[in-house]
Amino acid sequence: MNTLTDIEFRPLVIPASIDAPDAADFLEMVRVRNLVYRQISGHDDHAIAADELLPHFAPSEYEERNMWIVVDGDAVIGRAAIDFPLENDSKVGFWLIELQQDSWSRGIGTAAYELIERTARDRGRSVLQSWAEHPAALGPTLAPPTGFGTIPEDHAARFFLRHGYSLEQVERNSAFDLTAPFDTVERLLAEARAASPEYRVVQWFAPTPAEYVDGYAWMKSRMVTDAPAAGLEFDEETWDAARIAEHDAKYVGRTMQVTAAQHIATGELCAFNELVIGKDRTEASHQEDTLVLKEHRGHKLGTLVKCAGLLSWREVAPLSPRVITYNAEENRPMLDINEAIGFAPIAYEGAWKKVLS
Ligand SMILES: CC(C)(COP(=O)(O)OP(=O)(O)OC[C@H]1O[C@@H](n2cnc3c(N)ncnc32)[C@H](O)[C@@H]1OP(=O)(O)O)[C@@H](O)C(=O)NCCC(=O)NCCS
Repeated sequence: MNTLTDIEFRPLVIPASIDAPDAADFLEMVRVRNLVYRQISGHDDHAIAADELLPHFAPSEYEERNMWIVVDGDAVIGRAAIDFPLENDSKVGFWLIELQQDSWSRGIGTAAYELIERTARDRGRSVLQSWAEHPAALGPTLAPPTGFGTIPEDHAARFFLRHGYSLEQVERNSAFDLTAPFDTVERLLAEARAASPEYRVVQWFAPTPAEYVDGYAWMKSRMVTDAPAAGLEFDEETWDAARIAEHDAKYVGRTMQVTAAQHIATGELCAFNELVIGKDRTEASHQEDTLVLKEHRGHKLGTLVKCAGLLSWREVAPLSPRVITYNAEENRPMLDINEAIGFAPIAYEGAWKKVLS
């Protein structure tokens, strides 16, 4: 085994395509990413193909991405990254360090963290935040100030604590079984339709059709302001047609279905739900953003867009075994809907924060 001084943090080269001559490090980064997630979660539902991840690394007007691969001799054993939103006066940075399990407890994580914190300070960022899955384990647990949820005080939790982080929020990862009968979804959809006669369901696949761009942009801008953030800090985001186009370009090669509720009288889009799957239609599907605008809550629009989305998803991805989603553990209104539909918890994540002095 090499010593810590032999470990290299090599800035990731972003290739033009995954077949480009300089794509080797990117391919290794994706391999180690998928391996680490399998080691933590015990399944491959978080895996993504290299060509489907690459568009997320395209230069962006809205975010600066910095990533390094962790190289031990000839072997890529992990990755480290910190992203800086480019909103005005942003103080935040979002980071990750992911090492394959046989490289833990050698001080590599700590060395990577020094690089992360130094990079954040150099960019004038003072609020650092990171998420990690904490698999169920016996022993002591930690609870966030929200009072909702706990995580085991495991290796990753001790790592965060030792580097001055506090646990701010617990997120629940749930799964919906797409192979089971849809009776409940159909019943809930019928109830939601009956409770929302002033609204209709509209659906599209990314890229967003021109007629929905403005409404979708407004709803996307409300995600950071309207979702429960506990003690975490997020910048207000401005979304317009250009930002929607950049967002949609990240899903090139994958399928994103957006199901929205439209107020019939005004044409306003008031709620939406996103479902995503890659080229491999036998993999797990991912539910991404879901939101009901504040002024339109109380009409069962959350249930409406989720159930309508799941029902048509059965035709889009009939071989996908399940849908994976994440919710804040204190987000009772959203969890009530998901639990009624049949989503069941499978894992918990911690959201961690440190304010640099
Ligand atoms: C969390 C994670 C990044 C930590 O990395 P790591 O390399 O194991 O961390 P370190 O080795 O620097 O420190 C971990 C432990 O090893 C000990 N250690 C540090 N240097 C050491 C060395 N040279 N030899 C032996 N042990 C050492 C530390 O004291 C620490 O002990 P503790 O768990 O009792 O606090 C890593 O486990 C990981 O990738 N986990 C999966 C992804 C994840 O959860 N990431 C969290 C951030 S997104």
